[in-house]
Amino acid sequence: METKVVIIDRALIRDDQLLEGAAILRKGGLVAFPTETVYGLGANALDPEAAKKIYAAKGRPSDNPLIAHIGQRSDLEVLVKEIPEAGRKLMKAYWPGPLTLIFPKSSAVPYETTGGLDTVAVRMPSDLVAKRLIELAGVPVAAPSANTSGRPSPTTADHVYEDMNGRIEMIVDGGPVGIGVESTIVDVTGSVPMLLRPGAVTLEMLCDTVGQVAVDPAVAKPMSAEIKPKAPGMKYRHYAPKAEMFLCEGSSQAVVSYINQEAKKKRQEGKRLGVLATEQTREAYQADVVLSVGSRESEESIARHLFEVLRKFDEAEVDVIYSECFGEGALGMAIMNRLRKAAGYRVVQVEEAAVVGSEK
Ligand code: TXA
Ligand code: MG
Repeated sequence: METKVVIIDRALIRDDQLLEGAAILRKGGLVAFPTETVYGLGANALDPEAAKKIYAAKGRPSDNPLIAHIGQRSDLEVLVKEIPEAGRKLMKAYWPGPLTLIFPKSSAVPYETTGGLDTVAVRMPSDLVAKRLIELAGVPVAAPSANTSGRPSPTTADHVYEDMNGRIEMIVDGGPVGIGVESTIVDVTGSVPMLLRPGAVTLEMLCDTVGQVAVDPAVAKPMSAEIKPKAPGMKYRHYAPKAEMFLCEGSSQAVVSYINQEAKKKRQEGKRLGVLATEQTREAYQADVVLSVGSRESEESIARHLFEVLRKFDEAEVDVIYSECFGEGALGMAIMNRLRKAAGYRVVQVEEAAVVGSEK
Protein backbone atom coordinates (compact mmCIF):
# COMPACT_ATOMS: atom_id res chain seq x y z
CA MET A 1 0.00 0.00 0.00
CA GLU A 2 1.24 3.49 -0.89
CA THR A 3 1.06 5.83 2.13
CA LYS A 4 0.11 9.35 1.07
CA VAL A 5 1.47 12.25 3.16
CA VAL A 6 -0.56 15.48 3.30
CA ILE A 7 1.26 18.48 4.78
CA ILE A 8 -0.98 20.96 6.59
CA ASP A 9 -0.21 24.64 6.98
CA ARG A 10 -1.43 25.41 10.49
CA ALA A 11 -1.75 29.09 9.68
CA LEU A 12 -4.62 28.17 7.36
CA ILE A 13 -6.22 24.77 7.91
CA ARG A 14 -8.16 24.05 4.70
CA ASP A 15 -10.99 21.53 4.46
CA ASP A 16 -9.97 20.51 0.96
CA GLN A 17 -6.69 19.15 2.39
CA LEU A 18 -8.55 17.04 4.98
CA LEU A 19 -11.51 15.78 2.93
CA GLU A 20 -9.66 12.83 1.40
CA GLY A 21 -8.46 11.62 4.82
CA ALA A 22 -11.96 12.08 6.24
CA ALA A 23 -13.41 9.94 3.43
CA ILE A 24 -10.79 7.21 4.04
CA LEU A 25 -11.76 7.14 7.72
CA ARG A 26 -15.48 7.00 6.94
CA LYS A 27 -14.94 4.08 4.54
CA GLY A 28 -12.99 2.01 7.10
CA GLY A 29 -9.35 2.91 6.19
CA LEU A 30 -6.46 4.12 8.36
CA VAL A 31 -5.26 7.74 8.62
CA ALA A 32 -2.59 8.98 11.05
CA PHE A 33 -3.07 12.54 12.31
CA PRO A 34 -1.57 14.97 14.83
CA THR A 35 -3.13 15.63 18.22
CA GLU A 36 -1.84 17.93 20.99
CA THR A 37 -0.36 14.88 22.82
CA VAL A 38 1.11 12.46 20.24
CA TYR A 39 0.22 11.39 16.68
CA GLY A 40 -2.77 9.04 16.50
CA LEU A 41 -3.52 6.18 14.11
CA GLY A 42 -7.17 6.74 13.25
CA ALA A 43 -9.99 4.44 12.14
CA ASN A 44 -13.80 4.54 12.35
CA ALA A 45 -14.52 3.63 16.01
CA LEU A 46 -17.94 2.17 15.12
CA ASP A 47 -16.57 -0.19 12.44
CA PRO A 48 -15.21 -3.49 13.85
CA GLU A 49 -13.24 -4.26 10.66
CA ALA A 50 -11.53 -0.85 10.82
CA ALA A 51 -10.53 -1.44 14.45
CA LYS A 52 -9.00 -4.80 13.45
CA LYS A 53 -6.87 -3.01 10.83
CA ILE A 54 -5.40 -0.81 13.58
CA TYR A 55 -4.25 -3.84 15.57
CA ALA A 56 -2.70 -5.34 12.43
CA ALA A 57 -0.88 -2.13 11.40
CA LYS A 58 0.55 -1.59 14.88
CA GLY A 59 1.26 -5.24 15.62
CA ARG A 60 -0.76 -4.62 18.76
CA PRO A 61 -2.48 -7.28 20.90
CA SER A 62 -6.23 -7.04 20.30
CA ASP A 63 -7.10 -7.08 24.03
CA ASN A 64 -5.64 -3.59 24.27
CA PRO A 65 -8.58 -1.16 23.94
CA LEU A 66 -8.58 1.97 21.76
CA ILE A 67 -9.53 5.57 22.60
CA ALA A 68 -12.47 6.99 20.60
CA HIS A 69 -11.79 10.61 19.58
CA ILE A 70 -14.68 13.03 19.04
CA GLY A 71 -14.85 16.47 17.44
CA GLN A 72 -17.58 17.91 19.63
CA ARG A 73 -19.26 17.26 22.97
CA SER A 74 -22.55 16.11 21.40
CA ASP A 75 -20.74 13.20 19.67
CA LEU A 76 -20.35 11.57 23.08
CA GLU A 77 -23.99 10.45 23.38
CA VAL A 78 -23.76 7.70 20.75
CA LEU A 79 -20.73 6.14 22.45
CA VAL A 80 -21.78 5.91 26.10
CA LYS A 81 -24.58 4.38 28.15
CA GLU A 82 -24.46 7.08 30.84
CA ILE A 83 -22.34 10.04 31.90
CA PRO A 84 -21.40 9.91 35.60
CA GLU A 85 -21.30 13.25 37.46
CA ALA A 86 -17.50 13.21 37.83
CA GLY A 87 -17.26 12.73 34.06
CA ARG A 88 -19.44 15.78 33.46
CA LYS A 89 -17.28 17.96 35.70
CA LEU A 90 -14.01 16.76 34.16
CA MET A 91 -15.29 17.24 30.60
CA LYS A 92 -16.43 20.74 31.41
CA ALA A 93 -13.05 21.62 32.90
CA TYR A 94 -10.64 19.94 30.47
CA TRP A 95 -12.31 19.17 27.12
CA PRO A 96 -11.17 19.76 24.51
CA GLY A 97 -7.73 18.71 25.73
CA PRO A 98 -5.36 15.95 26.84
CA LEU A 99 -7.84 14.05 29.03
CA THR A 100 -9.37 10.63 28.22
CA LEU A 101 -12.37 9.48 30.24
CA ILE A 102 -13.59 5.90 30.65
CA PHE A 103 -17.40 5.50 30.47
CA PRO A 104 -19.79 2.54 30.34
CA LYS A 105 -20.07 1.84 26.60
CA SER A 106 -23.20 1.95 24.47
CA SER A 107 -24.19 -0.94 22.21
CA ALA A 108 -23.07 1.12 19.19
CA VAL A 109 -19.41 0.65 20.15
CA PRO A 110 -18.05 -2.71 18.95
CA TYR A 111 -15.98 -4.91 21.27
CA GLU A 112 -13.21 -4.77 18.65
CA THR A 113 -12.76 -1.10 19.63
CA THR A 114 -12.87 -1.68 23.40
CA GLY A 115 -10.74 -4.83 23.45
CA GLY A 116 -13.71 -6.82 24.73
CA LEU A 117 -14.51 -4.43 27.61
CA ASP A 118 -17.96 -3.00 28.50
CA THR A 119 -16.36 0.42 28.95
CA VAL A 120 -15.16 2.87 26.32
CA ALA A 121 -12.36 5.45 26.48
CA VAL A 122 -13.27 8.82 24.92
CA ARG A 123 -11.27 11.96 24.31
CA MET A 124 -11.93 15.26 22.57
CA PRO A 125 -8.59 16.61 21.30
CA SER A 126 -7.90 20.33 21.25
CA ASP A 127 -5.61 20.12 18.20
CA LEU A 128 -7.47 21.94 15.43
CA VAL A 129 -6.29 19.60 12.65
CA ALA A 130 -7.53 16.58 14.63
CA LYS A 131 -10.79 18.29 15.46
CA ARG A 132 -11.55 19.28 11.87
CA LEU A 133 -10.55 15.87 10.45
CA ILE A 134 -12.89 14.10 12.91
CA GLU A 135 -15.73 16.53 12.16
CA LEU A 136 -15.33 16.01 8.41
CA ALA A 137 -15.18 12.21 8.85
CA GLY A 138 -18.55 12.40 10.61
CA VAL A 139 -17.74 9.36 12.77
CA PRO A 140 -15.92 8.95 16.11
CA VAL A 141 -12.29 8.07 15.39
CA ALA A 142 -10.53 5.30 17.33
CA ALA A 143 -6.88 6.26 17.59
CA PRO A 144 -4.04 4.70 19.49
CA SER A 145 -0.63 6.33 19.29
CA ALA A 146 0.64 5.86 15.71
CA ASN A 147 3.76 3.83 16.56
CA THR A 148 4.53 0.17 16.04
CA SER A 149 3.49 -1.56 19.25
CA GLY A 150 6.28 -1.30 21.85
CA ARG A 151 8.14 1.60 20.21
CA PRO A 152 8.15 5.15 21.61
CA SER A 153 5.01 7.13 20.67
CA PRO A 154 5.40 9.41 17.62
CA THR A 155 5.62 13.15 18.17
CA THR A 156 6.32 14.10 14.53
CA ALA A 157 4.93 12.90 11.20
CA ASP A 158 8.43 11.55 10.38
CA HIS A 159 8.19 9.19 13.38
CA VAL A 160 4.84 7.95 12.05
CA TYR A 161 6.34 7.48 8.58
CA GLU A 162 9.20 5.41 10.06
CA ASP A 163 6.76 3.00 11.69
CA MET A 164 3.72 3.05 9.37
CA ASN A 165 4.89 3.66 5.81
CA GLY A 166 3.23 1.10 3.54
CA ARG A 167 0.80 -0.04 6.25
CA ILE A 168 -1.77 2.79 6.21
CA GLU A 169 -3.51 4.91 3.58
CA MET A 170 -2.51 8.39 4.75
CA ILE A 171 -0.47 10.48 7.17
CA VAL A 172 -1.72 14.01 7.89
CA ASP A 173 1.43 15.99 8.77
CA GLY A 174 0.62 18.89 11.08
CA GLY A 175 4.17 19.42 12.37
CA PRO A 176 5.58 18.46 15.78
CA VAL A 177 3.07 18.02 18.64
CA GLY A 178 2.88 20.40 21.59
CA ILE A 179 2.72 18.16 24.68
CA GLY A 180 4.65 15.03 23.73
CA VAL A 181 3.21 12.48 26.21
CA GLU A 182 -0.16 10.75 25.82
CA SER A 183 -3.37 11.99 27.43
CA THR A 184 -4.24 11.55 31.09
CA ILE A 185 -6.70 8.64 31.49
CA VAL A 186 -9.35 8.73 34.23
CA ASP A 187 -11.94 6.00 34.85
CA VAL A 188 -15.18 7.66 35.97
CA THR A 189 -17.29 4.48 36.10
CA GLY A 190 -16.66 3.83 39.83
CA SER A 191 -17.69 5.74 42.96
CA VAL A 192 -14.31 7.51 43.07
CA PRO A 193 -12.63 8.57 39.80
CA MET A 194 -9.38 6.68 39.25
CA LEU A 195 -6.26 7.91 37.46
CA LEU A 196 -5.06 5.12 35.13
CA ARG A 197 -2.39 7.00 33.16
CA PRO A 198 -0.79 10.34 34.15
CA GLY A 199 -0.55 13.07 31.51
CA ALA A 200 -0.70 16.84 31.04
CA VAL A 201 -3.97 17.14 32.99
CA THR A 202 -2.22 16.56 36.32
CA LEU A 203 -3.46 14.79 39.46
CA GLU A 204 -3.69 18.15 41.18
CA MET A 205 -5.87 19.55 38.37
CA LEU A 206 -8.16 16.50 38.59
CA CYS A 207 -8.48 16.85 42.38
CA ASP A 208 -9.27 20.57 42.02
CA THR A 209 -12.24 19.63 39.84
CA VAL A 210 -13.69 16.50 41.49
CA GLY A 211 -12.13 16.41 44.97
CA GLN A 212 -11.00 12.88 45.64
CA VAL A 213 -9.16 10.92 42.91
CA ALA A 214 -7.76 7.42 43.42
CA VAL A 215 -4.50 6.49 41.71
CA ASP A 216 -4.06 3.06 40.13
CA PRO A 217 -1.24 1.44 42.17
CA ALA A 218 0.50 0.56 38.92
CA VAL A 219 0.84 4.31 38.25
CA ALA A 220 1.77 5.62 41.71
CA LYS A 221 5.41 4.55 41.87
CA PRO A 222 5.80 0.89 41.05
CA MET A 223 9.29 -0.55 41.27
CA SER A 224 8.41 -3.56 39.13
CA ALA A 225 6.09 -4.66 36.37
CA GLU A 226 4.47 -7.10 38.81
CA ILE A 227 1.65 -4.72 39.76
CA LYS A 228 -0.94 -5.14 37.02
CA PRO A 229 -2.32 -1.83 35.71
CA LYS A 230 -6.06 -1.28 35.21
CA ALA A 231 -5.62 0.30 31.75
CA PRO A 232 -4.91 -2.89 29.78
CA GLY A 233 -2.43 -1.18 27.47
CA MET A 234 -0.25 -0.02 30.35
CA LYS A 235 0.83 -3.59 31.08
CA TYR A 236 2.84 -3.98 27.90
CA ARG A 237 6.51 -3.01 27.65
CA HIS A 238 6.03 0.34 26.12
CA TYR A 239 7.76 3.43 24.87
CA ALA A 240 10.84 1.32 24.81
CA PRO A 241 14.07 2.06 22.96
CA LYS A 242 15.89 -0.99 21.57
CA ALA A 243 18.78 -0.69 24.03
CA GLU A 244 18.60 -1.79 27.65
CA MET A 245 17.85 1.28 29.74
CA PHE A 246 18.56 2.11 33.39
CA LEU A 247 17.18 5.03 35.42
CA CYS A 248 19.60 6.54 37.92
CA GLU A 249 18.14 8.08 41.04
CA GLY A 250 20.24 10.25 43.35
CA SER A 251 21.77 13.73 43.59
CA SER A 252 22.82 15.22 40.28
CA GLN A 253 26.51 15.03 41.16
CA ALA A 254 26.29 11.39 42.28
CA VAL A 255 24.38 10.40 39.14
CA VAL A 256 26.92 12.08 36.84
CA SER A 257 29.86 10.33 38.54
CA TYR A 258 28.11 6.97 38.57
CA ILE A 259 27.22 7.15 34.89
CA ASN A 260 30.73 8.25 33.91
CA GLN A 261 32.17 5.27 35.82
CA GLU A 262 29.74 2.93 34.10
CA ALA A 263 30.63 4.47 30.73
CA LYS A 264 34.28 3.51 31.24
CA LYS A 265 33.34 -0.06 32.12
CA LYS A 266 30.98 -0.43 29.17
CA ARG A 267 33.60 0.91 26.79
CA GLN A 268 36.03 -1.75 28.01
CA GLU A 269 33.34 -4.34 27.29
CA GLY A 270 33.10 -2.90 23.76
CA LYS A 271 29.59 -1.51 24.27
CA ARG A 272 28.19 1.81 23.08
CA LEU A 273 26.68 3.86 25.90
CA GLY A 274 23.97 6.51 25.62
CA VAL A 275 23.06 9.04 28.31
CA LEU A 276 19.72 10.79 28.62
CA ALA A 277 20.81 14.09 30.12
CA THR A 278 19.42 17.61 30.55
CA GLU A 279 20.59 21.04 29.43
CA GLN A 280 22.05 21.44 32.93
CA THR A 281 24.19 18.28 32.82
CA ARG A 282 24.91 17.39 29.18
CA GLU A 283 28.48 18.76 29.29
CA ALA A 284 29.34 16.66 32.34
CA TYR A 285 29.12 13.23 30.71
CA GLN A 286 31.79 11.24 28.88
CA ALA A 287 29.77 8.71 26.88
CA ASP A 288 29.36 7.74 23.22
CA VAL A 289 26.00 9.48 22.77
CA VAL A 290 24.78 12.19 25.18
CA LEU A 291 21.33 13.62 24.41
CA SER A 292 19.60 16.40 26.31
CA VAL A 293 15.87 15.85 26.77
CA GLY A 294 15.28 19.48 27.78
CA SER A 295 15.83 21.91 30.62
CA ARG A 296 15.17 20.98 34.26
CA GLU A 297 13.56 24.41 34.51
CA SER A 298 10.74 23.31 32.16
CA GLU A 299 8.92 20.01 32.61
CA GLU A 300 7.03 20.89 29.43
CA SER A 301 10.23 20.87 27.39
CA ILE A 302 11.20 17.47 28.85
CA ALA A 303 7.79 15.92 28.07
CA ARG A 304 7.86 17.33 24.52
CA HIS A 305 11.22 15.77 23.65
CA LEU A 306 11.11 12.53 25.65
CA PHE A 307 9.94 10.10 22.95
CA GLU A 308 11.99 11.81 20.26
CA VAL A 309 15.16 11.34 22.32
CA LEU A 310 14.34 7.65 22.92
CA ARG A 311 14.00 7.20 19.15
CA LYS A 312 17.34 8.98 18.59
CA PHE A 313 19.08 6.43 20.81
CA ASP A 314 17.71 3.73 18.50
CA GLU A 315 19.15 5.54 15.48
CA ALA A 316 22.50 5.95 17.22
CA GLU A 317 22.54 2.19 17.87
CA VAL A 318 23.65 2.36 21.49
CA ASP A 319 23.72 -0.87 23.52
CA VAL A 320 22.89 0.61 26.93
CA ILE A 321 21.18 3.85 28.00
CA TYR A 322 21.54 5.52 31.39
CA SER A 323 18.96 8.16 32.21
CA GLU A 324 18.59 10.85 34.81
CA CYS A 325 15.37 10.91 36.89
CA PHE A 326 12.90 13.74 37.48
CA GLY A 327 10.60 14.93 40.27
CA GLU A 328 7.14 13.30 40.38
CA GLY A 329 5.11 16.52 40.78
CA ALA A 330 2.73 17.89 38.11
CA LEU A 331 3.84 16.75 34.63
CA GLY A 332 6.79 14.95 36.29
CA MET A 333 4.44 12.10 37.20
CA ALA A 334 3.77 11.43 33.51
CA ILE A 335 7.45 11.82 32.56
CA MET A 336 8.61 9.34 35.22
CA ASN A 337 5.76 6.92 34.40
CA ARG A 338 6.92 6.75 30.76
CA LEU A 339 10.61 6.59 31.68
CA ARG A 340 10.04 3.73 34.15
CA LYS A 341 8.20 1.74 31.52
CA ALA A 342 10.83 2.51 28.86
CA ALA A 343 13.46 1.20 31.28
CA GLY A 344 11.45 -1.93 32.09
CA TYR A 345 11.47 -0.71 35.76
CA ARG A 346 15.27 -0.95 36.05
CA VAL A 347 16.13 1.77 38.59
CA VAL A 348 19.58 2.22 40.14
CA GLN A 349 19.71 4.01 43.50
CA VAL A 350 22.96 5.93 43.25
CA GLU A 351 24.53 6.42 46.68
CA GLU A 352 26.58 9.48 47.57
CA ALA A 353 29.43 7.00 48.25
CA ALA A 354 29.69 6.47 44.53
CA VAL A 355 30.91 10.06 44.23
CA VAL A 356 33.62 9.57 46.84
CA GLY A 357 34.61 6.25 45.22
CA SER A 358 35.05 7.85 41.83
CA GLU A 359 37.37 10.54 43.17
CA LYS A 360 39.92 8.19 44.67
O1 TXA B 1 -2.97 11.03 23.93
C1 TXA B 1 -3.52 9.98 23.64
O2 TXA B 1 -4.37 9.46 24.36
C2 TXA B 1 -3.13 9.32 22.30
C3 TXA B 1 -3.61 10.25 21.19
C4 TXA B 1 -3.45 9.65 19.82
O3 TXA B 1 -4.93 10.67 21.42
N1 TXA B 1 -3.67 8.01 22.20
C5 TXA B 1 -3.19 6.97 22.92
O4 TXA B 1 -3.77 5.75 22.65
O5 TXA B 1 -2.31 7.09 23.74
P1 TXA B 1 -3.10 4.38 23.06
O6 TXA B 1 -3.93 3.34 22.40
O7 TXA B 1 -1.67 4.37 22.76
O8 TXA B 1 -3.37 4.26 24.60
C6 TXA B 1 -4.66 4.02 25.06
C7 TXA B 1 -4.62 3.57 26.50
C8 TXA B 1 -4.17 2.14 26.64
O9 TXA B 1 -3.28 2.04 27.75
C9 TXA B 1 -5.49 1.41 26.91
O10 TXA B 1 -5.31 0.25 27.65
C10 TXA B 1 -6.28 2.45 27.67
O11 TXA B 1 -5.97 3.63 27.00
N2 TXA B 1 -7.73 2.22 27.55
C11 TXA B 1 -8.49 2.33 26.45
N3 TXA B 1 -9.76 1.96 26.70
C12 TXA B 1 -9.81 1.62 28.01
C13 TXA B 1 -10.85 1.15 28.86
N4 TXA B 1 -12.08 0.96 28.43
N5 TXA B 1 -10.53 0.90 30.16
C14 TXA B 1 -9.25 1.09 30.62
N6 TXA B 1 -8.25 1.53 29.84
C15 TXA B 1 -8.51 1.79 28.56
MG1 MG C 1 0.36 3.96 22.77
